[in-house]
Amino acid sequence: MLKAIILIGGPMKGTRFRPLSLELPKPLFPVAGFPIIYHHIEACSKLSDVREIILIGFYQPNEALNKFISQSQVEFQVQIRYLQEYSALGTAGGLYHFRDQIMTGGPEMFFVMNADVCGDFPLQEMLDFHRTRPSTAICTMLATEATRQQSLTYGCVVENKDTHEILHYVEKPETFVSTTINCGIYLLTPGIFQPLEVAFKKNLEENYSFDFQVPSKEVIRLEQDVFVPMAATGTVYVFQSTRFWSQIKSAGAAIYANRHYLVIYRRTHPERLATNGEGKPKVTGDVFIHPTAQVHPTAVLGPNVTIGRNVVVGEGVRVRESIILEGATLQDHCCILHAIIGWHSSVGFWTRVEGTPNDPNPNKPFAKLEIPSMFTEDGRLNPSITVIGSSVQVPSEVIVLNSIVLPHKDLSGCYKNQIIL
Ligand code: GTP
Repeated sequence: MLKAIILIGGPMKGTRFRPLSLELPKPLFPVAGFPIIYHHIEACSKLSDVREIILIGFYQPNEALNKFISQSQVEFQVQIRYLQEYSALGTAGGLYHFRDQIMTGGPEMFFVMNADVCGDFPLQEMLDFHRTRPSTAICTMLATEATRQQSLTYGCVVENKDTHEILHYVEKPETFVSTTINCGIYLLTPGIFQPLEVAFKKNLEENYSFDFQVPSKEVIRLEQDVFVPMAATGTVYVFQSTRFWSQIKSAGAAIYANRHYLVIYRRTHPERLATNGEGKPKVTGDVFIHPTAQVHPTAVLGPNVTIGRNVVVGEGVRVRESIILEGATLQDHCCILHAIIGWHSSVGFWTRVEGTPNDPNPNKPFAKLEIPSMFTEDGRLNPSITVIGSSVQVPSEVIVLNSIVLPHKDLSGCYKNQIIL
């Protein structure tokens, strides 16, 4: 029996998604029509031995999260539970704190997945790989290749090329270590609780204080506090994937991830993709249209477009490389390019909403999505995709270019390279 644990973080994480909504936890943000963690759950549920999926985070459980969990349990026929940390315990603190819940039922192994990454995860291949490692193996880490320069912003792995044992691990190194980077997807055996206990106790001892004003430090970071000391002890191994993988840090990354998930659907769930036909809008490339959306047959959509639940798309509308979230209305003849339109927002007649993509350089093998800082050194907004927050009204016949519009705003004119508060 196997389990899977998804680390969903909490309200202090995922702040780069805030312009879209203050309420929705980032892991529930829809990519290719489904919440980010839906894709994790779907991938795990394909392994028949995965009998329970545990979400660990420090969000106060809300209606959106509860509804998502109950719907996913029915859809995937697997037990899903949310365990709430009493404060942010770090990427391993929650695993240690909830060790009894994780070990109930005696799982042979369990996956641990970060919820801010997306990809086509080779979970079965990781299992097969792990089972052929020596009996001392406690962890198999999924890794991928990055460019030399980009590797510095990830966890870097040095392996023994023959045995794939991790010899050295550095999180966000200052100088070059390796182009093999950690994907944030692990397969662990129950043996991990011993190094977790060591890390937890060491942390407590080192930070213990009788000063009541100093909060106790119970945070354990899986990468720095656990994997670093475990390197070169015959316990941690790396499995390299060449399949699609990306971090989702910002809303812009969601458009990039959307494109790849739609490509995966073409292979695994072609029925989810929209097709051309009489009375239907014209689609080019991969497009997802939620069955409840009303799209006028003269609209032209794609490539890489997701139209969410209850969205209304008017006559002659053009949408490309964009995500339109639940309940939004695109009025006749508007044009949406490289943008995210927030929940229940409306875009007026003949309006143009356009952003600038920042896709990885296609000429550099293994290049990952850049996460540019929001502002240039002289304080100007870096061009990015346009993000229209939830419940925003964009009037007719205006242009909104490379801008971020915060929720509940009634726009009154054209905007270019601005953050509209
Ligand atoms: P940043 O660049 O700072 O975001 O670092 P990172 O990419 O290394 O991400 P980080 O390790 O902070 O988070 C990885 C995953 O763990 C994400 O899915 C987070 O939501 C989750 N996570 C981070 N901190 C916590 C925590 O305290 N508790 C729980 N349950 N999850 C967490």
